[in-house]
Amino acid sequence: MKLLVIGSGGREHALVWKLAQSPHVTQMWCAAGNAGIGLERLAKNSVSVECVNIGAEDLPKLLVFAQEKKPDLIVVGPDNPLALGIVDLFQQHGLRIWGVNQKAAQFESSKVFSQKFMEKYGIPTAAAGTFSEARPAKAFCATLGGKCVVKADGLALGKGVLICTNEAEAEKAVDEIMVGKAFGVAGARVVIQEFLEGIEVSLHALCDGKTAKIFPTSQDHKRALDGDLGLNTGGMGTYSPTPFMTDAQLTDTARQVLEPFMRGCLAEGIDYRGLLYPGVMLTKHGPKILEFNARFGDPETQVYLTRLENDLVELLDASVTGRLDEMELTWNPLASVCVVMASGGYPGSYEKGGIITGLDAANALPNVKVFHAGTAKAGGQIVTNGGRVLGVTALGRDLTTAQATAYAAVEKIHFDGAQFRRDIAARALASSR
Ligand code: AMP
Ligand code: GLY
Repeated sequence: MKLLVIGSGGREHALVWKLAQSPHVTQMWCAAGNAGIGLERLAKNSVSVECVNIGAEDLPKLLVFAQEKKPDLIVVGPDNPLALGIVDLFQQHGLRIWGVNQKAAQFESSKVFSQKFMEKYGIPTAAAGTFSEARPAKAFCATLGGKCVVKADGLALGKGVLICTNEAEAEKAVDEIMVGKAFGVAGARVVIQEFLEGIEVSLHALCDGKTAKIFPTSQDHKRALDGDLGLNTGGMGTYSPTPFMTDAQLTDTARQVLEPFMRGCLAEGIDYRGLLYPGVMLTKHGPKILEFNARFGDPETQVYLTRLENDLVELLDASVTGRLDEMELTWNPLASVCVVMASGGYPGSYEKGGIITGLDAANALPNVKVFHAGTAKAGGQIVTNGGRVLGVTALGRDLTTAQATAYAAVEKIHFDGAQFRRDIAARALASSR
């Protein structure tokens, strides 16, 4: 099979690495890819994965490329091309593509859509209101005593969520999004949720329109600095499984969320084939969904795919053709930890082009895989080329061992200004002691 993977981050490197292990794959391209993706080779024939310089949102160019190369399966990593309708477009041209269609992508591209869906189909979520005018939005915040979360409806590069602790902050947040248009048209409507206290976990389920197969649990670390301080980021590190949710709780949550989700999709005429990633808050009143994403998480994918034992090509193929009911997902019982190494200054401004050393030494450690995110090749060296640079991932017999191995690998890697959290999985370890 010939495969085309779309995207260029750590998630896509993990996808490419895992897909490359499949004996079905004889050729693979990645648009646009990164330096690490370009180093991967296929297990079947040792052929290198080829990076193609087309951005994930350049749908016309991607289509021309796909029509020329005729891949047997196209795999989409990021949310933007899905929201732009890449799946619908490629299907209209007879191409086989994995990922959600534009209608299904609304679960991520519109928080108003998601919130209304959750309420209609009884999916446990925060008490919330949806608004297209500032005055009633502010009045609703006041009913929550200002302890609320104001969310721009549309995609806002992960920045459209403002957490408020009092009425003055809530009014300011509504003004910023709806009046000041801080996120442009994405903020024409807002969802306002009650502020939920608890521990946040990431869930993933692979769907085929009828069946949803839940993954084990994982947890992301969204803040930039140790102790969950600093700015929100795309994710500074993950681990799987998390001790904050037992297997029984996972099964129970999957039933409470996935069953009404699939039923609702059927009723609304949404053919959900792809990945569903609910962000869940474990509150004292049970799990509540904060949001849905319609794609693999980054860096959740790095810990999931190092644990997944199935052939990923077969799973994604079953997701496209509606045969997931025939598949059983199997997971390595080892724990996985991913520590993100970022450029100094991330998620604010940062420099590019710093030389990265020690990658081979880190990758040579047993049970370690260094996934690249923002990296590029320059004059025979690998250099930084983005905010999140690497996802240093390690397996271990338990979380303690996986964490120690991941950090031993991080110690071997150097680039100027490298910034990473030293406490990935630390709270989980403290809680299980
Ligand atoms: P979202 O993009 O909707 O997941 O929001 C981004 C982040 O804001 C989440 O990962 C949570 O950490 C936080 N958040 C979102 N909604 C709530 C809520 N209702 N209560 C508390 N924190 C929230
Ligand atoms: N890890 C957060 C995200 O992928 O949205």
